[in-house]
Amino acid sequence: MVTDPPTTAHPVLELRAVSKVYRVQTTMFNRPRDLRAVDDVSLQLHRGDVLGLVGESGCGKSTLSRLLLGLEAPTSGEVLIDGKPMTGTSIRDRARRIQPIFQDPYASLNPRKTVADIIALPLRVHSIGERSDDAKRVTEMMDRVGLPARMLLNYPNQLSGGQRQRVAIARALVMRPEIIICDEPTSALDVSVQSQILNLLMDLHDEFGLTYLFISHDLSVVQHIASRVAVMYLGRIIEARKSTQLFADPLHPYSKALLDSVLTPEIGMGLPETNLGATFPNPIDPPPGCAFHPRCGHAMQRCHKERPPTLREGSDRVECWLHDDLEAEQTRAVDAQRSTAATPDTV
Ligand SMILES: Nc1ncnc2c1ncn2[C@@H]1O[C@H](COP(=O)(O)OP(=O)(O)OP(=O)(O)O)[C@@H](O)[C@H]1O
Ligand code: SF4
Ligand SMILES: [Mg+2]
Repeated sequence: MVTDPPTTAHPVLELRAVSKVYRVQTTMFNRPRDLRAVDDVSLQLHRGDVLGLVGESGCGKSTLSRLLLGLEAPTSGEVLIDGKPMTGTSIRDRARRIQPIFQDPYASLNPRKTVADIIALPLRVHSIGERSDDAKRVTEMMDRVGLPARMLLNYPNQLSGGQRQRVAIARALVMRPEIIICDEPTSALDVSVQSQILNLLMDLHDEFGLTYLFISHDLSVVQHIASRVAVMYLGRIIEARKSTQLFADPLHPYSKALLDSVLTPEIGMGLPETNLGATFPNPIDPPPGCAFHPRCGHAMQRCHKERPPTLREGSDRVECWLHDDLEAEQTRAVDAQRSTAATPDTV
């Protein structure tokens, strides 16, 4: 696991009370309805962080990653890069600082381009450096990600899954970004290849001083790589803590259910059934109160009606009435305004 970096005062990337609402047509005859894919999320990435983001399919992880990449605009709230609104930055600036690595290296690589062209493409699209330097940059990056130079003129269909993901990593790194948003980067790979790619990502994190948001279904992967973990449920971050603390003693019943369902710590074994009873709710009709209450063995009367606020202790965050002995975020915000000394948040 990557050790916790020293906390810097300013996050390099931040979501402030961000929501993303899609208008969706559920049937031919009904009026479009709102689907709140990301619901009032505040999250901070500090330089050198490896923040794991976990949650079931459809909880909003990829939507959140697209907001951080500037590929989608929030419906409300703000995305900040180095404390400045992302809306004020150019696509080129964003691409130089933040790069994605997606789940499926087959789908994310153009099958008609060679490895050399694929890796060099971001440099050309964003007019970075001289074209005559591209070959040098590309071979250097291939070397860093463990791809032999003889593969320069190969096409994606001539590569294995692991090699294709190495190409995708080289393409992201050729821009020398500071932040990488990894959306399930190992889940489409064979188990034996997953740990190789994971180790490569961790080596590159240290070598280039990168900051990662690392999305995964696979808690054993997140435990292996992340210094902090945020757990997402129905568009909200319901728990965010240091990885060691969350894995040792989860606060939220949902986090606990996810952890209980990890039958083996082996990387790549994935997330088995969660034994959560009721299925994941329809995000168009989220349950009232705490959205997790239909599946929660601890649900109380108030959970059906009142949504728990974000409760904090230090850098720990949880949304659950079982922990209302902790301080509510709103109270904390008021206190922070009163205080002249800034207290940097870590998640
Ligand atoms: N462009 C869109 N238009 C309408 N609804 C969308 C759109 N993109 C995502 N959604 C919906 O938003 C919710 C969150 O989707 P998202 O892809 O972010 O989930 P996820 O956590 O990444 O899931 P998975 O683990 O399966 O990748 C889902 O209900 C999805 O159907
Ligand atoms: S707020 Fe209530 S329903 Fe929600 S997770 Fe906590 S105990 Fe369960
Ligand atoms: Mg996704």
